[in-house]
Amino acid sequence: MAYSAKDYGKLIGMEGFSETLLKNHFTLYQGYVTNTNKVMDTLGEMAKGGKIGTPEYAELKRRLGWEFNGMRLHELYFENLGGKAALNKSGKLGKKLAEDFGSYEAWEADFKGVGAMRGIGWAILYQDPVSGKLFNQWINEHDVGHPAGCNPLLILDVFEHAFMIDYGLKRPDYIAAFFKNIKWEAVEGRLK
Ligand SMILES: [Fe+2]
Repeated sequence: MAYSAKDYGKLIGMEGFSETLLKNHFTLYQGYVTNTNKVMDTLGEMAKGGKIGTPEYAELKRRLGWEFNGMRLHELYFENLGGKAALNKSGKLGKKLAEDFGSYEAWEADFKGVGAMRGIGWAILYQDPVSGKLFNQWINEHDVGHPAGCNPLLILDVFEHAFMIDYGLKRPDYIAAFFKNIKWEAVEGRLK
């Protein structure tokens, strides 16, 4: 069954994010959904048409990880936005961050540092389901660097389209605005 783009229009009005920036971002996201469907359909047709093993099939297969993750990471990003309250540091997630990073503040400094790394991609707080451990990870573009089997808890988009309209090159100011709008209950809900 084809994927459908979700409506994140309720995020319009968030402090620190202009309507123009958000609408452009929603349009980009919708493109990933369209292309994920298109790539999956074309691969299916190529497989049926005896094209497995061709360079065209291989290149399109490589492309799928980029389109699919572009779709799913945007959904996780928009869904961890729109909150108003700070994290309850004595809750399940707050305690776990302090346990794994020394303090909430140490985690936040590390996450913001990952988000400010040069390059386009994503900063993601992951949980390893094997050890339960939390760690911050840099994802290059959409598809490179995901730790296998780990669960993404908090997702920050640091492609230039996510902030340049509002902040120019001031990525740390965008990250500060992102932090003011994190929907912590959604992030905590992803914790196992
Ligand atoms: Fe994005």
